[in-house]
Amino acid sequence: MCPDRAATNGLRRQSCLMPFLRTAFIALSHNRSLRNFCERSRIGNKLSGRFVAGMELADALRVAESVNKQGMFVTLDSLGESVSSAAEAHKAADVYHQLLDSIRERHLDANISVKLTQMGLALDPELAEAIATNLTEHAKYTGNFVRIDMEDSPLTQVTLDIVRRVNARTDLRGAIGIVIQAYLYRSQADVEQLISDGIRVRLCKGAYKEAAEVAFPRKADVDANYIKLSQVLLESSLYHGLATHDEGMIAAAKSYAKHRGIAPSRFEFQMLYGVRRDLQRKLVAEGYNVRVYIPFGREWYPYFMRRLAERPANVLFIAKQLLRQ
Ligand code: FDA
Repeated sequence: MCPDRAATNGLRRQSCLMPFLRTAFIALSHNRSLRNFCERSRIGNKLSGRFVAGMELADALRVAESVNKQGMFVTLDSLGESVSSAAEAHKAADVYHQLLDSIRERHLDANISVKLTQMGLALDPELAEAIATNLTEHAKYTGNFVRIDMEDSPLTQVTLDIVRRVNARTDLRGAIGIVIQAYLYRSQADVEQLISDGIRVRLCKGAYKEAAEVAFPRKADVDANYIKLSQVLLESSLYHGLATHDEGMIAAAKSYAKHRGIAPSRFEFQMLYGVRRDLQRKLVAEGYNVRVYIPFGREWYPYFMRRLAERPANVLFIAKQLLRQ
């Protein structure tokens, strides 16, 4: 077989395998026994370092400081999802309160990213709303900002409702924002509503396994919707975040902004810790605002598996590290 054809076949095999691997890693992200095993093993904790800043709050602050020194903003995520009691939700919230105080004390250029399931959403939406409100009050008081991450689609509406109600309090307006996933059909309507409510958006493609009834199954459609929604966000007067490592999405946003005379200071690109550091640095050198999402904590497993789902080639990278141990 000629080398070109071999290469094409290789690529085709890879692209056929991708949806399968994505589904497999997302399924594994829900596996309790594997999660317990990995999160308790020393080697697991070491390997998670590819995407996680460390196990302790102090690790996250240290990494945030170093990212700030490289000219980038930060958002901090204390890892954890779906708590099983109100006490656990309050404990998770306490870590974020400590973070807000530490960010101020250390003069870091950082905000916080919070998952509502970690604040008890699945147990009692009122509990999650009360905790989100407290955190936003604290953020407002310390001149900071709370970003509510978006989880899977059964939680989209309740997450939007909570963020809207918190932002509707005039004393908290602007101190809370949300994430919108370009893979959902509903996202254009949500983006338009959020802009008219004055709520800042982080746009991402979406990291969960969703049914074709609610989300575009084809990557090309997700990408096209991402570009469309990023243009709607760029046109608004609010400061939004475009979260992606996809050079095509980034090039489209840069070129649209340039064409429409939208200054780089009016928006930011956001990327995950440990992913495309080269691109992060390049954007900073070009004069764009970049924010790095820094997760930390012992409950790293579901987050880590979603990162493998996005790019199964990461498994090879991790396997190489394992062989070096
Ligand atoms: P895409 O997946 O098409 O990847 C484009 C290219 O980027 C790849 O070819 C590869 O080079 C690189 N890349 C992407 N992921 C990689 C990885 N894990 N490792 C190495 N390289 C990688 N999702 C969600 O549902 N709710 C949320 O709240 C958030 N929040 C969030 C915050 C921030 C700051 C970011 C950057 C992302 C999220 N996400 C998220 C995740 C998001 O939905 C999406 O799954 C990932 O960003 C991957 O999509 P890309 O846009 O990077 O493109």
